[in-house]
Amino acid sequence: MLSRFQFKRFRPFRRPDTTAEVQDGRMAARVVCIASGKGGTGKSIIASNIAVHRARRGERVLLVDFDAGLANAHLLLGMAPNHDLGHVMQGQVKAREALSEGPHGLKLLSGGVGRQSLVDPTRRELDRLFRALMPLEKEFDLVLIDHGAGLGYSTVAHLAATSTLLLVTNHEVTALSDGYALYKRATAVNKGIRVGLVVNRAPDEKLAGAAWDSFRSVSERFLGHSPEFVGWVPADPAVSSSVQRREPVVGSYPTSPAATSLAAVADWGPIDHARTTSAFYEKARRALR
Ligand SMILES: Nc1ncnc2c1ncn2[C@@H]1O[C@H](COP(=O)(O)OP(=O)(O)OP(=O)(O)O)[C@@H](O)[C@H]1O
Ligand SMILES: [Mg+2]
Repeated sequence: MLSRFQFKRFRPFRRPDTTAEVQDGRMAARVVCIASGKGGTGKSIIASNIAVHRARRGERVLLVDFDAGLANAHLLLGMAPNHDLGHVMQGQVKAREALSEGPHGLKLLSGGVGRQSLVDPTRRELDRLFRALMPLEKEFDLVLIDHGAGLGYSTVAHLAATSTLLLVTNHEVTALSDGYALYKRATAVNKGIRVGLVVNRAPDEKLAGAAWDSFRSVSERFLGHSPEFVGWVPADPAVSSSVQRREPVVGSYPTSPAATSLAAVADWGPIDHARTTSAFYEKARRALR
């Protein structure tokens, strides 16, 4: 049964277990990547709404807009950051100094708009950036990384390092096909990755269910495994109204169908356990080599 109301209800935030921290000898944030094969599927909408929903519950949340050079998370959150990943990559500011504060105290590290160096960084530049971002892992409970569409090597390096991926698709065959390609690559570079699929902007439950069925059967048939189904989010005019208002829909229209579904996606259990035994950015740097 595929209902957007099937999700677990609201649970008060409890800090997850700290076994990995103890093993690692230091605090490390849980890291969740949000990616899609095709552009425009709703990654930034989903990332910004999860960020707000979880920050509202008292988690220390960092949203990294890694749609570098074409960032827009700051617009969805009504923010005007002074610095972005480009400044960090070029060593002009420390990562901490590049953060801006958004709703409910969440922090945003913007991806910068129109910066060519960010659109197409060299491996060396990316390595420098990852190294500069390492200290942030100790300062947050949850780091959400909003990616640009597709399989650029910066996305693949993140996928190789993350324990958890939210894969966003729409119900159309083009989005499903590109999403499958991303899923295949993610599970090839990272055997232990946990992948949750979100069908966003679906006209109705039937089409969302059909999209999930086809994704699962193709994945099972050709790869022998499939992602978990996180849920579906309806196409809802409240989302575009919230974009106009520059306020995530979970804040501006909390009872709308999209907000209810997005809140449930934000409560997906594995987000509470998205921790690895070694630090994320160290792994991402290794993946670049
Ligand atoms: N559930 C929804 N209902 C209605 N409109 C939606 C929904 N989700 C997304 N949209 C619309 O789609 C637009 C694109 O969404 P978004 O920017 O999140 O996509 P994206 O995957 O991040 O795109 P890109 O690949 O360019 O980064 C949004 O501005 C919003 O207007
Ligand atoms: Mg985006």
